[in-house]
Amino acid sequence: MTDWQELDKKYFMQTIVRHPLTLVRGEGVRVWDDKGKEYLDCVGGLAVNCLGHCHPVVVDAMAEQARTLMQTSLWYYTVPMLRLAELLVENSCMDRVFICNSGLEANEGAIKLARRYGSLKLNGAYEVITTNSSFHGRSLALTAASGQEKMHAPFEPLPVGFINVENNDIEAIKAVTTEKTCAVMLEPLQAEGGVNVADDDFLKKVRAWCDEKGIMLILDEVQTGIGRLGALFGYQLYGVEPDIMSLAKGLGGGIPIGAVLAKEKAAVFTLGDHNATFGGNPVTSATAYATLKYVIENDIPGNARKVGQYLVSGLESLKNKYSFITEVRGRGLLLAVEFDKEIAESVVMKCLENGLLINKLKTNAIRFIPPLIITNSEVDEALDILDKVLSGVADK
Ligand SMILES: Cc1ncc(COP(=O)(O)O)c(C=O)c1O
Repeated sequence: MTDWQELDKKYFMQTIVRHPLTLVRGEGVRVWDDKGKEYLDCVGGLAVNCLGHCHPVVVDAMAEQARTLMQTSLWYYTVPMLRLAELLVENSCMDRVFICNSGLEANEGAIKLARRYGSLKLNGAYEVITTNSSFHGRSLALTAASGQEKMHAPFEPLPVGFINVENNDIEAIKAVTTEKTCAVMLEPLQAEGGVNVADDDFLKKVRAWCDEKGIMLILDEVQTGIGRLGALFGYQLYGVEPDIMSLAKGLGGGIPIGAVLAKEKAAVFTLGDHNATFGGNPVTSATAYATLKYVIENDIPGNARKVGQYLVSGLESLKNKYSFITEVRGRGLLLAVEFDKEIAESVVMKCLENGLLINKLKTNAIRFIPPLIITNSEVDEALDILDKVLSGVADK
């Protein structure tokens, strides 16, 4: 049998300490490794597989389009990207879409759009205010946008034009807003940076401030969008509408795709401002269209909300049982459990041994980002495994 993990060591750039298993197959909320062992997957391709693994709607749309037309470039009209654009606009507060390939690319597009707005309407304003603990992507610009020191240091000097301020603090945003500011960029709920839930009225205050100053509000919904928080888009839960929004992750049901959406007023790209070789690719667009249509027609966000509440109550029971759990937080099916000690790595590894994939969020916190189709009984299974693992920790 090929030792895939040895091949990884030899050939792949070593940027991540991978878990010691090689996944070969997935179906619904389950995956299997190359030794045939089954796992319940509460990582879901890193908050991507909203309909689980290999959902027939996703697979059929992809296969059919792959047999029909695969890649053309944006120099031609193609049907899937236009159907997807229409579906996104008709189901959001947005007016226009550019379809790209990842979260990073969607956020780059969003920032380019805000800077273009600044160059056309705000006397060349170009600065974007973001918050500490945010995560927006791994390009150089988005490394600067992400408010995490540890991401910055290895790649300095970083592109200029990004100011990171305290999260959940409107006064901090006001204090750094100048005539150079073109936008404030936020995640409705910070995901990678710790599942940090801001005060309910924080987004409203930021929205009001952006309106007062005539600057753009960009919401990075790469992780929170497509039902993850229990509504199709996170902004719907906070009673605000962004000017520009980025999407990726769940949008393609497992295939790489991203999108930048904007209100008409903010959709200021002119001819030649933006393009991407694979942008609007027929296969990814057709797959995303089928995924999004299924998500909407089957109220998958509603399932994320209900099952998310069920999972929270189960996690709260574990918190009552184990004093070293300090907090359960998040919304929908983006949830974190924090410990008073640095045991996340060993909890993740023990869960793995017991057939549960779970994400290490920080040294002292784990994250649940399962497929949004997960059921209460699958949640019970996950909770049983976690309980068993935590009881082992408690015994030590
Ligand atoms: C909120 C947010 N924005 C942007 C990104 C970057 O997306 P990608 O990894 O597709 O480039 C991520 C990825 O985790 C994310 O969570």
